[in-house]
Amino acid sequence: MSKVVLKNLMKQYDSTVVVREMSLEIGDGEFLALLGPSGCGKTTTLRMIAGFVEASAGRILFGEEDVTDLPPNKRNTGMVFQGFALFPHMTVAQNVAYGLEMRRIARPEIKTRVAKVLDLVQLGRFSDRFPRQLSGGQQQRVALARALVINPHVLLLDEPLSALDAKLRHDVRLQIRQLQQSLGLTTVFVTHDQEEALSLADRLVVMNAGAIEQIGSPADLYERPATPFVADFIGKTNFFSGDLNGNRFVLEGGDQSFKVCSQVSNAKLLGIRPEKIMLSSSDQPGSSRESDNEMTGVVELVSYLGPSTEFRIRLAKDRHMLVQQSNRDAAQCVHVGQQVKLSIPSESCLLFDADERARELVRAKA
Ligand SMILES: Nc1ncnc2c1ncn2[C@@H]1O[C@H](COP(=O)(O)OP(=O)(O)O)[C@@H](O)[C@H]1O
Ligand SMILES: [Mg+2]
Repeated sequence: MSKVVLKNLMKQYDSTVVVREMSLEIGDGEFLALLGPSGCGKTTTLRMIAGFVEASAGRILFGEEDVTDLPPNKRNTGMVFQGFALFPHMTVAQNVAYGLEMRRIARPEIKTRVAKVLDLVQLGRFSDRFPRQLSGGQQQRVALARALVINPHVLLLDEPLSALDAKLRHDVRLQIRQLQQSLGLTTVFVTHDQEEALSLADRLVVMNAGAIEQIGSPADLYERPATPFVADFIGKTNFFSGDLNGNRFVLEGGDQSFKVCSQVSNAKLLGIRPEKIMLSSSDQPGSSRESDNEMTGVVELVSYLGPSTEFRIRLAKDRHMLVQQSNRDAAQCVHVGQQVKLSIPSESCLLFDADERARELVRAKA
């Protein structure tokens, strides 16, 4: 177990930089998720930590030890790869023992350690089976056992759940979290799945095009996204361009403004989460208490999602707002074509500086 420190870590292939100036400290026993769209450099970062990919610049420390120039087998990391291929011709026990044999551990010790780790992942009874005789979830646990058996300083997981179906993914996710906590293992978990990252990690690192966009707790990132990219990648966000004037954000065109309370001077972009908006039928008198921001719109689309319903509402000037309402008190009878009232508290109005990427985001959504 140890903390992991990345200092200005960088990777380039020929002239293309795929991971840029990455600096990060992962606490001892912390579960950190690297989250970002496909191709943003997650796997490359993880493989640099493991030693399978050589860093072009920067340093990697495990505790106080600089491991940047050590080969993978000297770093003592346990890794589960995307797809977690097991050796098909070896039994479960042989698959798990492999890493220990490579390290020339004595037979009797191998036997004890393999048995112990298979119990840990609840596969003790399956040690003599071959991978093809196991379900996807069980195979995934063998891959995990194989990574854990070497008592790694750091556990590295690269989209370990991507081959499993949704229900199983949820179960195995909980098992990994419990195991990681009970062993106090420093863990880096790579995923492009925001729900997975939010539910598992102590802290999240959102990556975009090889760079860190934001680091924080799941709630930090969701409630206080630092950039439009984060607001758009984690959860959904309605974006509107405009200008800040005192405590009001005036939309482009000048016909509508929102009371806001966030302190971003020079904000050019307003973001509103769909579930922070209260929806009521406009003919219901006094249906909601006075809110900071109220407006009417017409329902264009209704998508029933089980626990919640999503509505696409057309506002004045052909602007659109996505609204999500919980179905706690049974689905609301809101139908397409109906006029509705939207209420938005000022503390739910997120403000951003707008760079070129943010403008692109707004254009793409218009
Ligand atoms: N061996 C390689 N040679 C050249 N380019 C690579 C190599 N490995 C990865 N890349 C590129 O680096 C970028 C990041 O890849 P990767 O780390 O696998 O992303 P992610 O895991 O976030 O999907 C991609 O654009 C990918 O094409
Ligand atoms: Mg990857």
